[in-house]
Amino acid sequence: MCRPLWSSWRALLPGVTAEVMLEVTSLAEAVAACRSEMRWEEQENRFLGTILFFVFLLQSCNGELIKTLPGQPTNVSFQQHSGYIVTNEGHGRSLFYYFVEADSVNHSSLPLTLWLNGGPGCSSVGFGAFMENGPFQVGENGELVKNQYSWNLESNMLYVESPIGVGFSYSETDEDYIDWNDTNTAYDNLVFITKWLEKFPLYKDSEFFLVGESYAGHYIPQVAELILNYNKSPGIAPINLKAIAIGNPLLDIDISVLAGEYLWSHGAISDKTLMLEKTVCNDSKYLREYIHSGWSQGCNDVFNRVDNEVSEDVAFDDLLLPKCLSTPSAQQFKPRGLHAKAHSSIDRVRSTGDPCLQSRILTYLNRRDVQKALYANTTNLPGHWDFCLGPLVYQEENLEINIIPLVSDLIKAGLPIFLYSGDQDSKIPLTQTRIIANNIAKGLKLTTLSKYRTWYNEKQVGGWSQSFGGLKDGKNITYLTYATVRGAAHEVPFTSPSQALTLFHSFLNGSPLPRPKS
Ligand SMILES: *[C@@H]1O[C@H](CO)[C@@H](O)[C@H](O)[C@H]1NC(C)=O
Ligand SMILES: *[C@@H]1O[C@H](CO)[C@@H](O)[C@H](O)[C@H]1NC(C)=O
Ligand SMILES: *[C@@H]1O[C@H](CO)[C@@H](O)[C@H](O)[C@H]1NC(C)=O
Ligand SMILES: *[C@@H]1O[C@H](CO)[C@@H](O)[C@H](O)[C@H]1NC(C)=O
Ligand SMILES: *[C@@H]1O[C@H](CO)[C@@H](O)[C@H](O)[C@H]1NC(C)=O
Ligand SMILES: *[C@@H]1O[C@H](CO)[C@@H](O)[C@H](O)[C@H]1NC(C)=O
Repeated sequence: MCRPLWSSWRALLPGVTAEVMLEVTSLAEAVAACRSEMRWEEQENRFLGTILFFVFLLQSCNGELIKTLPGQPTNVSFQQHSGYIVTNEGHGRSLFYYFVEADSVNHSSLPLTLWLNGGPGCSSVGFGAFMENGPFQVGENGELVKNQYSWNLESNMLYVESPIGVGFSYSETDEDYIDWNDTNTAYDNLVFITKWLEKFPLYKDSEFFLVGESYAGHYIPQVAELILNYNKSPGIAPINLKAIAIGNPLLDIDISVLAGEYLWSHGAISDKTLMLEKTVCNDSKYLREYIHSGWSQGCNDVFNRVDNEVSEDVAFDDLLLPKCLSTPSAQQFKPRGLHAKAHSSIDRVRSTGDPCLQSRILTYLNRRDVQKALYANTTNLPGHWDFCLGPLVYQEENLEINIIPLVSDLIKAGLPIFLYSGDQDSKIPLTQTRIIANNIAKGLKLTTLSKYRTWYNEKQVGGWSQSFGGLKDGKNITYLTYATVRGAAHEVPFTSPSQALTLFHSFLNGSPLPRPKS
């Protein structure tokens, strides 16, 4: 196969850059090269030099094996790759990915998971990989610290900055950045997946999962639909899509974003403000006004009240998260003194995220040496890397698309769906995702296969969940799972890495969430 050779050739030819090789060969040629390499290998004992030349071409284009990331621990046993996949040659569109092999001797026998953050316009590398469930987090001196709950313990992880204009992904056609929409995102994501699998043929038959959060509640069902259609076309290698999961997802603007009751019951807004939300302007109306014409006086007044009461020192995406007071003084959140050790282990159990992590990631991903090591920003992109602030102008009307019918169709097509919800998030509160899960189950006449009850992360309650399904070939199959994560933010793995890994394990295996061991 191609893979084992890449590393050695990369090491031998460190000076050859992706740009240089791009002029030599196109992606299509590289893919063809990989295919012929495999044929050559099957026939055995063919001219080795030719094979190595093809391999060299392949791995030198758009993305390659990462030697080491600046500040990375030395004893890392899995490989990382990153770079660009061209999704549209005419327009010069390229999506940046960061691929982390599973941390296992037999990594290729584990599944492949593609992770997407939302926005629209937020980075899967910044949030997903470096803040949530990737192998490393950025420490206080810019060093990388191993994440002991990294999702690559369970799966090969592919983080994609999607669509163009997000993070390091770009288009050479400026007009692409204006009026971009869900249809374009989904289509480019499909092209990305098919081309990536051609570039990494080791994973062509791997069980494939799509996971994401927030606005990925749009992206993931939409690309899943394209994949199911793609799989019906003749003469292609089908993508082995097994299931999808979305955390705190935007699915229906009339339900998902309504946060009045949630904020009120958490003490973050007053009786009066809740009453005004109910009578004058709720979150759905507020968002629709924003999308269309701008805010009415009524909505403005109500949501100024909300902002003032919640206060800028509390994050809407995690009511419990402390505020980052200043990056060097993140020390403040570290327990000190005699009982520091005990306290820090308690802290870990509580799993509060580090509120200053985001600013360290921002610094890290803008370092020239880091970008070089990641094969990112090879075309001198204007501006700096940021979590959500790219040049992209998204068609905001797309926020109003109701994704529930699509999710129902995917279930009808046999694709299991897992909806999870960090229960400290007020952007997409758990109560709203629960309403949606129940509506979908009711609409599809699914039966409750496991009733609403606690699930466990080791000895502690990780949250509550319910699963729904139906009979297929005389067996009960789970098609829809809803789970809350206790104490978790909008970005669940960020605050609750251990619970998130437990959840991810059950999701990948299609197994029930753990119950207490008796
Ligand atoms: C890697 O090194 C760190 C620090 O030296 C150590 O704590 C950790 O146990 C090592 N991990 C492995 C897998 O050897
Ligand atoms: C690796 O995984 C494959 C497929 O699951 C299995 O057949 C093989 O025995 C495994 N090898 C090792 C060394 O675990
Ligand atoms: C996105 O824009 C294209 C035209 O550029 C249009 O055909 C498509 O319907 C739009 N999709 C959505 C979801 O608005
Ligand atoms: C939110 O406000 C809109 C517009 O006033 C209204 O139609 C809708 O019923 C409200 N939603 C809820 C859940 O009250
Ligand atoms: C890309 O690199 C250039 C320096 O070569 C830098 O000025 C620019 O800010 C970088 N762009 C991004 C998006 O990081
Ligand atoms: C399927 O689940 C339902 C609900 O829990 C149960 O009543 C039924 O007996 C199950 N059927 C089979 C074949 O397991």
